[in-house]
Amino acid sequence: MAPRVLVVDRSASTRDTVAELLGDLASEVVWVTRDGAGAQLRAGIAAGSPYDVVILDAEPAPTPAIVRELVTLGGGVRIVLAAAGADAAALAARAGVSDVVARPFNTAELAFRIGRAAAATERADKRRPRKSDVLIGTGPWIKDMYDRIAMVAATDVTVAIFGESGTGKELVARTIHNSSPRHDAPFVVVNCAAIPEPLLEDELFGHVRGAFTDASRDREGLLAAAHTGTLFLDEIGEMPMALQAKVLRVLQSQEFRRIGDDADRRVDVRIITATNRDLDALVAAGNFRQDLYYRINVFPMHLPPLRERPEDIALLVHHFVQKYRAKLGRPIDSVSPAALARFAAYDFPGNVRELENKVHQAMVVCTGTTIEEADIALPQPRAQTVRPDVDRPFRELKQEAIDAFEQRYLTELLRVHHGNLARAARAAGMDRKNLWALVERHGLDRAQFKKP
Ligand SMILES: Nc1ncnc2c1ncn2[C@@H]1O[C@H](COP(=O)(O)OP(=O)(O)OP(=O)(O)O)[C@@H](O)[C@H]1O
Ligand SMILES: [Mg+2]
Repeated sequence: MAPRVLVVDRSASTRDTVAELLGDLASEVVWVTRDGAGAQLRAGIAAGSPYDVVILDAEPAPTPAIVRELVTLGGGVRIVLAAAGADAAALAARAGVSDVVARPFNTAELAFRIGRAAAATERADKRRPRKSDVLIGTGPWIKDMYDRIAMVAATDVTVAIFGESGTGKELVARTIHNSSPRHDAPFVVVNCAAIPEPLLEDELFGHVRGAFTDASRDREGLLAAAHTGTLFLDEIGEMPMALQAKVLRVLQSQEFRRIGDDADRRVDVRIITATNRDLDALVAAGNFRQDLYYRINVFPMHLPPLRERPEDIALLVHHFVQKYRAKLGRPIDSVSPAALARFAAYDFPGNVRELENKVHQAMVVCTGTTIEEADIALPQPRAQTVRPDVDRPFRELKQEAIDAFEQRYLTELLRVHHGNLARAARAAGMDRKNLWALVERHGLDRAQFKKP
């Protein structure tokens, strides 16, 4: 496929020049200013059609930080610097990019540079986040998250990810790894809660032959397997104290010792940890080493629970529909408003993982091309636990709460009475006309509740 090209330039007319010169050699050419470039790259990934090449205006001279951020947000996209004059190569070197194209553009050179960059991106594609593995969200938290990922991706800083179960901790860890210079090396996951305590040390550090009765040969541990890559210590709060000391040593000196060995070994790994536990409390209770806590908590990242960002639900539902469509081989392409309202009204104690499972289940049950409310298996919505946003006017918030309640109430009422307005009105103790008006206002389609 011809590459998708993003032109990041002062002038919109550059897009037309590039599009005209490249012709069929680009499947799409989009223009954006430098301020909007990060968001545009992210949107491309979120939409499942990432850009393959960025043509970056050399003026004002981009810093390596800017270039790194674009590469990160574009999931490893190749940058080609568009520069005029004799010092183009020097400019590129200073910005940390290896591809340059001379301005003014000519077809032959532009086509060659773009083709070569796109091929490089494609080769690297294995390590780009697959579109089903992309971190999705709409609120300010996601922008902040991507900013923080961009900040640490290029470094070896130890990252600690906090969040309830199912909030995307592993996905964030993978995104950091995939955006880092270590992306071609392994990303190794060790779940400290899933491995029984006596085995965990062996898993992590390995052993030498004869170290214990079953040790009939040397075994490399997962730490060695992660050499030059990233080690993801999941559920670090569950790690036994004795092992914590050994992990601390790795963090301090990159050294460890296999079980039964008499010499130390060195590794080059970047460590990312995650936990849904309150490490402060564990430290206070004497169940987690304070020195290890300080070592891992260099760059904390906190993932908000899904109930604190209900605005993400609709986006995530559509994302998972796309993700499972192909896997299930089902032509499902939409979600009815009532079904979406049902998802939105639930508070998801299991967070995104639970939402993903519910969407998956609904798709298995669904017989048409639209997920209906009846396809969804969710417990009755619990009372609202979301903290009110006291920065917004009371009237507005109250109206939202009323709207949400009405929507839920009407949906359930119509479901129970199979869309029969007269019976629904009687049951609700409401005037039929008023009920009808309310149903209309909420855009509910009575036909959807009729018995098949
Ligand atoms: N913001 C998001 N956008 C898209 N998918 C997400 C997002 N957050 C989580 N997911 C998906 O939800 C599922 C659970 O995420 P993940 O395994 O990263 O969570 P976790 O915090 O590690 O959970 P646990 O504590 O249960 O191990 C994964 O399939 C992941 O891809
Ligand atoms: Mg996890």
